[in-house]
Amino acid sequence: MLEIKNVSYEVDNRMILKDINLSINKGDTVAIIGPSGSGKSTLFRLLSNLISPTKGSIYYNNKEYESLNPEELRMKVSYLLQQSDLFDSTIEDNLAFPSQIREKSFDKKKAKCLLKTVGLDHYRLDSKVQRLSGGERQRITIARQLMYTPEILLLDEATSALDTQNRNKVEELIFNLANKGVAILWITHSKDQSLRRFNKRVHLIDGHIEKEEVLQ
Ligand SMILES: Nc1ncnc2c1ncn2[C@@H]1O[C@H](COP(=O)(O)OP(=O)(O)O)[C@@H](O)[C@H]1O
Ligand SMILES: [Mg+2]
Repeated sequence: MLEIKNVSYEVDNRMILKDINLSINKGDTVAIIGPSGSGKSTLFRLLSNLISPTKGSIYYNNKEYESLNPEELRMKVSYLLQQSDLFDSTIEDNLAFPSQIREKSFDKKKAKCLLKTVGLDHYRLDSKVQRLSGGERQRITIARQLMYTPEILLLDEATSALDTQNRNKVEELIFNLANKGVAILWITHSKDQSLRRFNKRVHLIDGHIEKEEVLQ
């Protein structure tokens, strides 16, 4: 469903990513591993169409990114940032945002269900997010991102601020999505316990793919 072909990204005469080739299929679970500064987040910014390759192309279902409607692409490829980016209002206002941009009605039941999955069902939907801790805000961000199921989900160490119990909950939720066909790309620490659960592991070093392991 996603093809990255000979993609490079250069800024100020510096190659941040060099000749990246990668195929992502439906239901793939891909761990992106690499030291700080190796280009992991830049790869996600390219995949989420926030920036464009300076060489090569990215294809979604055989169509070049440039030929696709950016809004539609954004709904299919969902990028969960490392930092939570909620707006200072209620939980409900944040969880209702994805339905607003789609001009759909807010699915309260789904919101409550997701709150439960991320272990925050003791909060009311009208609670203010300002009162929540960093880890709780991150879990609301994850719930918001999953109000609509994307085709491809990009996670930038999204659970690093969570304790083990909540991290496990979120991990279950994400890997269940993969079972339903969502492709998951997750920037993961090389020592992470969950690494064995992924079917592909891509090692980035200094902007290039050093090693790609495919397990079946
Ligand atoms: N727009 C940019 N301008 C200049 N340098 C950038 C830009 N974006 C990323 N970089 C540099 O590219 C390198 C890779 O960054 P990044 O993709 O954030 O790495 P990672 O997520 O693996 O830590 C870093 O050295 C970073 O400073
Ligand atoms: Mg990064």
